[in-house]
Amino acid sequence: MPTSFEDSTQSASPQQERQKSLNAPNPVIIQGGMGIAVSNWQLARKVSQKNQLGVVSGTAIDNVLVRHLQDGDLHGTYRRAMEHFPNQEIVAAVLNKYFIEGGKPSDQPYIMVPKITLEQKFDAQGLLALANFVEVWLAKDGHNGVIGINFLHKIQMTTAASVFGAMLAGVDYIIMGAGIPRELPKLIRKLAKMEEGSVPVDVIGGTQVLTSINPNVFTPQLKELKRPKFLAIISVDILGTYLARDEETRPDGFIIEHNSAGGHNAPPRGKYEFDPSGEPIYGPKDIADLEKIKKIGLPFWLAGSYGKPDRLKAALDLGAQGVQIGTLFALSNDSGFSQRTRDELHTGLRDGSLEIKTDVKASPTSFPIKVAFIDGHTSTEEGYKARPKLCDLGYLREPVLSKTGNIIYRCPSEPDAQFLKKGGDPEEIQGRKCLCNGLMANIGLPQVRKDGYVEASIVTLGSDIEGAKELLAQHSKGYGADQAIDWLLDQK
Ligand SMILES: Cc1cc2nc3c(=O)[nH]c(=O)nc-3n(C[C@H](O)[C@H](O)[C@H](O)COP(=O)(O)O)c2cc1C
Repeated sequence: MPTSFEDSTQSASPQQERQKSLNAPNPVIIQGGMGIAVSNWQLARKVSQKNQLGVVSGTAIDNVLVRHLQDGDLHGTYRRAMEHFPNQEIVAAVLNKYFIEGGKPSDQPYIMVPKITLEQKFDAQGLLALANFVEVWLAKDGHNGVIGINFLHKIQMTTAASVFGAMLAGVDYIIMGAGIPRELPKLIRKLAKMEEGSVPVDVIGGTQVLTSINPNVFTPQLKELKRPKFLAIISVDILGTYLARDEETRPDGFIIEHNSAGGHNAPPRGKYEFDPSGEPIYGPKDIADLEKIKKIGLPFWLAGSYGKPDRLKAALDLGAQGVQIGTLFALSNDSGFSQRTRDELHTGLRDGSLEIKTDVKASPTSFPIKVAFIDGHTSTEEGYKARPKLCDLGYLREPVLSKTGNIIYRCPSEPDAQFLKKGGDPEEIQGRKCLCNGLMANIGLPQVRKDGYVEASIVTLGSDIEGAKELLAQHSKGYGADQAIDWLLDQK
């Protein structure tokens, strides 16, 4: 069985780099992108150094960067990466606004990044590009391994600037899930040529609006950028056939994700039906037909319950290039979870009490999401009730055409009265959780409110936790991503 792939795109000319990247052998293991910063640069770097594909997450990474800066960037890591960003005007402005020598007092709130809108000014795009650059740059620093970045299609307004930033750092793969990423291949091609690139954004009740970025405004000194490969995450073959049909939308490969995977899941096709525990029922129509996927002729990886050696072998036997794994890596000691979150999860795994369920209401995106039930987290009834509803990070806000013809923004997890005043459907509100703030809390960057409330966590994991349990049984202090890879490839 193939166990690794090599790529040394770093020192060649841009043309050679592009060719090399396109010719490079495919990875066997893709460590799945996991937001917010669960698959941070440290995890992705470690995976990449094991000759597999390490993937960082671009989701909300601008707020992650500025929170690290407000915590004092104690080792100087983020400022070191920022020195390499090709527009130092942006770096100076970001440091001036957010960096706090020695770190902010722990009971003081973080300064927020202004919420993204359709009208994006230089500063907003610059910070997005910088933050994505920094995350990829750090993941690639000091080795020749290959790094990808993951974005969610559902978060449309930040995509153009974020992809540009990742490409400035020489990202090797862009991977997108949670939607139909038909515009990404063209965006990547345009940005590689330093041409303006756009992403259409859906406006509820109106027509799509383009968010565009012009690379020359930020880095006029650059003539071209390496074109990363693009992998689309899909759940059913029909989407693969649709995307591959046209040169404009065709990705370089697919990740076929089963509904047992961590994070958001595609909703079941047809009408929702639920089992007695309230979880949605998936049927044969929700499973990709791999024979049809093979006929498309593009490489593909399987995801969702593939985090065990026998499952990896099974995927290869089915004709896949390999697998994408999330949960096993999220539960390793190298992921971005705070020590507190990791301890809570490991305790639940070791004593068998960790419960994970698919919640169709929790995510403001309206996609089902898998959540782990841990005391105090907003996944639980008590944790949810204890949190005053509030939307201040706003990544999942959607533009809406108001009655007066203006574009306004709303999220079902904002305070009910606000959402309803903006014309939102009352049915949309029920059970919605604030993922933005909860996911920030998981990684040790919770917002602290003026009244003393500290944002509580909400953790997503896949429903298959057997691999993590097995490795935890072998390693009393937890396991590293490198140990997980050795185990998966049977190279102990
Ligand atoms: C903590 C966590 C966060 C995730 N976040 C994302 C994400 O932001 N974007 C995405 O495309 N997939 C996300 N996923 C899915 C993974 O990238 C991967 O496809 C999935 O976990 C594979 O299934 P497994 O969990 O059974 O290994 C997440 C998974 C986990 C466990």
